[in-house]
Amino acid sequence: MSVITPKKNKKDRNIRVDAQRKVSGKAKFIEDAEYKNILHGATIRSPVTHGCIRGFKNLEDIKKMPGVRAVVKAEDIPGDNVVPFVKEDYPCLADKEVKFYGQAVALVAAETPEQAVAAMRAAELKIDKYPGIYDPVEAMTPDAVYVGGDENVHSNFKIRKGNIDEGFKNADVIIERVYNTGHQVHCYLENQGMTAEPLPSGGILVKGSMQCPFYVHNALVKVLGIKYSDVRVIQAETGGGFGGKEDMPSIIATHAALLARKTGMPVSLIYDREEDFHAMSKRHPARTRIKYGATSEGKLVACEAEYIVNGGAFCTLSPIVAWRGIIHITGPYQIDNVKADSYAMATNTVPCGAFRGFGQPQVNFANEILIDELAEKLDMDPVKLRKKNLLKPGSITATGQTVGSSCGMAETVEKTLDRIKFKQYKGSDSGPVKRGMGMATVFYGVGLGAEGKYFAKAAAQVHIKEDGTVFVAIGNVEMGQGAETVFNRICADILGCSYDMVEVLKPDTTRVPDSGPTVASRTTLMGGNAVKDAALKVRESLFKAAADKMGVRPFDIKVKDGKYVSDEGEIDYVDAVNLAYQSRERVAAQGWYKIENVSFDEKTGLGDAYPVYSFSTNACEVEVDTETGVVNVKRLVAAHDVGKAIHPPSAEGQIQGGAVQAIGYALYENLVMEEGKILNPSLSGYTVPTTMDICDVEPILVESAYPEGPRGAKGLGEPPMVGPAAAILNAIHDATGIWFRKVPCLPEDIVKELSKELK
Ligand code: MOS
Repeated sequence: MSVITPKKNKKDRNIRVDAQRKVSGKAKFIEDAEYKNILHGATIRSPVTHGCIRGFKNLEDIKKMPGVRAVVKAEDIPGDNVVPFVKEDYPCLADKEVKFYGQAVALVAAETPEQAVAAMRAAELKIDKYPGIYDPVEAMTPDAVYVGGDENVHSNFKIRKGNIDEGFKNADVIIERVYNTGHQVHCYLENQGMTAEPLPSGGILVKGSMQCPFYVHNALVKVLGIKYSDVRVIQAETGGGFGGKEDMPSIIATHAALLARKTGMPVSLIYDREEDFHAMSKRHPARTRIKYGATSEGKLVACEAEYIVNGGAFCTLSPIVAWRGIIHITGPYQIDNVKADSYAMATNTVPCGAFRGFGQPQVNFANEILIDELAEKLDMDPVKLRKKNLLKPGSITATGQTVGSSCGMAETVEKTLDRIKFKQYKGSDSGPVKRGMGMATVFYGVGLGAEGKYFAKAAAQVHIKEDGTVFVAIGNVEMGQGAETVFNRICADILGCSYDMVEVLKPDTTRVPDSGPTVASRTTLMGGNAVKDAALKVRESLFKAAADKMGVRPFDIKVKDGKYVSDEGEIDYVDAVNLAYQSRERVAAQGWYKIENVSFDEKTGLGDAYPVYSFSTNACEVEVDTETGVVNVKRLVAAHDVGKAIHPPSAEGQIQGGAVQAIGYALYENLVMEEGKILNPSLSGYTVPTTMDICDVEPILVESAYPEGPRGAKGLGEPPMVGPAAAILNAIHDATGIWFRKVPCLPEDIVKELSKELK
């Protein structure tokens, strides 16, 4: 038996387990899938934003085109024509009515990708056009065109806490503003894609780029009308998701599977960038109206808010987005009197869904600028105003939840402001380029919370082989965020083996139980605890074997530097594995974790919404060129209370990546729509920041341990995206004296406002 010497030098500690295969180009993405015979799919889509499909003009001609093997329409669906999300309103293929530009109407499979695209392009539909509605606020008016939901409301939530009228009566200063935020596109490097392969048993095997294999599994059961055991879903290497691969892959998977079942052959369905732009989900545009009431000393006493998001044509995940938004609507402040309403509206635009932050960047943008506007009105330092109201252990949130001991809010403020040497310029620069500083604080409920309670579980299996190497099977995915490394570290540190001995497998829905989705910054907490549970169970076998050898009791043993140590001596991890194998002890175990302690009362909006919150503070320095309107973020410091960083370099990477995405959200990313149709569906038309546009984001890790988390960890994936946009616009105000209340805040917006000032 080969003996691997555990080594844990600094280099091993820092390198992500997926780094080598990805930077070397060896990782296989779904587009690299190799099959001897595979057909290629393409999707025939609606060319109108609202209408009725009366059939094809040229279906028979399409079927006869070179290489074409099959065309699939709604009527060919063997199960239910619905992709199940929160509600069941999204048809797998449009059956008569289409509600947005690019909605899938039919599918074609051909021998080459070019033949499939040619057939798709040649397809002509007979359509009656209907009038559409594109603005969520207009969708609320009584005579608006009906799109979906209940009078165009996909979902709404409310919070009623304390006495709002009393609250405002006790306020010396009241301020109310409206903030608008635009669509944001995920721009994952790898477009969406799936392969589907009929299995000899009659079932279907689907592989692809995805965050949520179990959602995909559910959708295949529903659309194909087959048993759960007839479906197998395996996650392929996934080149970024950011939420865009939470729900959307279910659609592509069912499409690929329909073509595979119709042709009896494997089918690959890979989107190009333009198609991905038109048809896949986006961040919800939002209009957030917030009113704060404060005493003259700066104590916040009342908050009234209305949060309206454009959910697009179908409901998908909009309810959970509207819910996360309203839970965080007051900002990270204790305010005793709250009245808030959130609405996800139906319009004839592309359905919006999950995107890093999930409804929170929009509200944070509003309440973190409003707090600065209030500070100006109170003639008070905005840092001081925040400090008077910020959540701390024992504070009460908007939903009446008591903040627990794991709350590093104050520490994130101190560390951020100290690092950036926070000071306000107040427009003091005289030249055309003016500097400004701004900040924004964030609290973030970790996981799916009370509205997603059903999914709040995760499973893992830890399986040790004869040489001590370990397989970890888990239902949560690596999509670039570092989950594999986190699971690797948690498992290896518990067992006492070296990191290169632990292999984290890609999720396969036939091999691991439903572990919920890989979303909502829940993976370290949920999946990490499941891995911990499994690793601790297996380690019992190793402890027993080692204890027998040393003549001690299992609980006398400690793990230290790759050795199992007792007062009577020590045994290498690998020798303990060897002994366990000899005595036929259990070398595999399943771990489980679930969340119990969350609640939400739909009538009052009160309850313990999330098991725990992460906290962060962002501060930045900008330079505004008042002649061109160009804003440069010169420095951005972000301190995040993550509970515990399991793999600090990955945690820092999350902070930097999220901040860059937020810089794009604040200053560059402008999805242009005309009558519901996207006019710039490409990476050349829709500008995301490149390395040339960004500063070195400076991450700071704050660790206020969460006792329930693995080693004290909470969640970090989403929070880095939430705060920077408000910090940037607060800094622009500091430089120019002008409040901008929308993103993207483009050079033309700045020049326009500055020229008004001059008049
Ligand atoms: Mo994430 S936006 O919860 O997939």
